[in-house]
Amino acid sequence: MKLELSLVVTAAICAAAKPLSKAGPSRNKLLLISFDGFRWDYDQDVDTPNLDQLVLDGVKAKYITPPMLTMTSPSHFTTITGRWVEDHEVVHNMMFNTTTNLKVPHKQTLTRSEWWDNGVLPLWITAQNQGLKTASFFYPGGGANYSGQAVNRVRVEAFDHQDDNETEWRQNIDTVMSWFSEDNFDFVTLYYGEPDNVGHAKGPDHPDRKTIIQQIDRTIGYLREAIELHQLSDSLNVIITSDHGMTTVKKRPLVDEIILNKYLNLLKLVSFEILDYGGFGILTPRPGKQQQVFDALSKAPNLTVYKKDQIPQSFHLGRSERLPPIVVVADLGFNLNSRFIVYVNKGDHGFHNGEMDMKTIFRAFGPDFRRNFLSKPFDSIHIYPLMCKLLGIKPAPHNGSLAMTEDMLLPRGGSHRPPASLAALLLTLLTFAVL
Ligand SMILES: *[C@@H]1O[C@H](CO)[C@@H](O)[C@H](O)[C@H]1NC(C)=O
Ligand SMILES: *[C@@H]1O[C@H](CO)[C@@H](O)[C@H](O)[C@H]1NC(C)=O
Ligand SMILES: *[C@@H]1O[C@H](CO)[C@@H](O)[C@H](O)[C@H]1NC(C)=O
Ligand SMILES: *[C@@H]1O[C@H](CO)[C@@H](O)[C@H](O)[C@H]1NC(C)=O
Ligand SMILES: *[C@@H]1O[C@H](CO)[C@@H](O)[C@H](O)[C@H]1NC(C)=O
Ligand SMILES: [Zn+2]
Repeated sequence: MKLELSLVVTAAICAAAKPLSKAGPSRNKLLLISFDGFRWDYDQDVDTPNLDQLVLDGVKAKYITPPMLTMTSPSHFTTITGRWVEDHEVVHNMMFNTTTNLKVPHKQTLTRSEWWDNGVLPLWITAQNQGLKTASFFYPGGGANYSGQAVNRVRVEAFDHQDDNETEWRQNIDTVMSWFSEDNFDFVTLYYGEPDNVGHAKGPDHPDRKTIIQQIDRTIGYLREAIELHQLSDSLNVIITSDHGMTTVKKRPLVDEIILNKYLNLLKLVSFEILDYGGFGILTPRPGKQQQVFDALSKAPNLTVYKKDQIPQSFHLGRSERLPPIVVVADLGFNLNSRFIVYVNKGDHGFHNGEMDMKTIFRAFGPDFRRNFLSKPFDSIHIYPLMCKLLGIKPAPHNGSLAMTEDMLLPRGGSHRPPASLAALLLTLLTFAVL
């Protein structure tokens, strides 16, 4: 009995002393994970034990709102910069030049700095400039240089990368965990191309979408085990989010699909266009033809056409220099076909960010987050100041507000809760032992 008692006392003293030994800058590490195209409600019609456990162990927002426009590169870059799309100028998944008619597909833009580097510094670079080590694993924009600076460590998705390989997903988690635990990285962004890929190919209501959500759920379970294994539970915060939702594409014979060339002669009136790309389209009228293009598109059903200088301010797109003079946003589920219906996607995004189908997920857990805390919905632009706060760095100029998210954080000094509660438990045991 005596030996037992002294062991308990020693353990209690060790537990109580632990926070003190963690002297120096009280900064925890941060992992930002994005699952592309994870609509806010994808976990509600399928069994997701690990995501459910996260709700108890951390923070959940019912949904968050991506910026206009609801596409992969623009939205991811808003998350990592805290800037509206009109400021960071990554205005499409495709890189383009309206003068030369150059169009570069998304995957090939990933190492083209001239597409990403427009004077707005992403968090990796700002954090590095304040002495932190950062890395990007497949996250869009991570492969570019910013004012000549590269992210400390970068993996860029290969052109033919397979999106849904669960074995590789786990390997990527192992890799990232070793970056934190062995190489002492402070901030890593990790990107997965699912469930976007399945959402496009099969549509959000297809059983395969539920299957991939279960694969994501298992991966989150694997992540939590890996965090334990690498002894990062007390020092790693994790944010899980996404870039946009997904909606079913409306097809014949259910609707008359839009064919824009019925309403205006594209060849005659337009010198540059990106259409046939879901719900968002851009056009450059030929000289002197802007009003004619606008009038013709105004008569087309199931879409809204905007002159760039009249785009609603709430879209935060109008100040962009890159965006062509005419922007078209289709009604939910309509694809903007140009001349023929060659479009094969069964699900898509790019629609108005006010549509519930475009909303996406937010989950967070780790030593600085409250447990079992339901946050009110917020705009994804507010993730940036939250990340800066967690990393203890001074943010670059941005458009977010910490006030929108800081209620999900434990009060300062509360981050040593696990050791403290352990001490309390041992104290209870001690009392029993004495009795
Ligand atoms: C587009 O290409 C033209 C001709 O090469 C070039 O002068 C211009 O700077 C380019 N525009 C952008 C926005 O890169
Ligand atoms: C970034 O800069 C480094 C060093 O100047 C260079 O080696 C690398 O090719 C650049 N990467 C990109 C994507 O421009
Ligand atoms: C999945 O990834 C693992 C690990 O990278 C690889 O060995 C395997 O061949 C991949 N499977 C497929 C079907 O490509
Ligand atoms: C599409 O536009 C047509 C013509 O204005 C209208 O009748 C129809 O209700 C619209 N469809 C949807 C789904 O809004
Ligand atoms: C967004 O932030 C930038 C940098 O502080 C600022 O110049 C811009 O006016 C802001 N945009 C809005 C809509 O407030
Ligand atoms: Zn997509």
